[in-house]
Amino acid sequence: MKDIETYDDCLFLIEKFYEQLLVDERISHFFTTLPLVEHIPKVADFWAFILIDKPGYTGNMMQAHAKLHLKGKDFDQWLKLFHETIDKYFSGDKAKLAKERSTLIAWTMRAKI
Ligand code: HEM
Repeated sequence: MKDIETYDDCLFLIEKFYEQLLVDERISHFFTTLPLVEHIPKVADFWAFILIDKPGYTGNMMQAHAKLHLKGKDFDQWLKLFHETIDKYFSGDKAKLAKERSTLIAWTMRAKI
């Protein structure tokens, strides 16, 4: 299995992740009204910046989530699906970093909002 090495890998990962999010009975409702054609590349940009130093993400992540009223169990489920998707398609240092960073960011987000 390969590691996450290119922008296309990041986009592929996020597309596969959202396939899971969108059918998940616990958290799919957060995503049903989103314009996914714009949203998915934005989230891929975010991860490409973190994992492969590719500039491009310009959003405000914390602000985007502040209005969603997320609960601890929502974060747990989001992380579970994200980590499962990473493990299904990738392995290596970047895959490991993606799991570590997502856990850390979710923890920070949870503490802040
Ligand atoms: C409970 C878990 C989460 C849920 C339900 C959730 C849901 C959402 C939703 C609905 C949006 C779109 C907001 C909007 O445009 O109005 C969004 C944006 C985004 N999310 Fe999450 N999210 C969760 C956790 C996370 C975590 C832990 C990360 C990163 C590690 C993340 C990364 C992003 C990014 C990069 C965006 C784009 C923000 C922007 O507009 O610039 N999300 N999320």
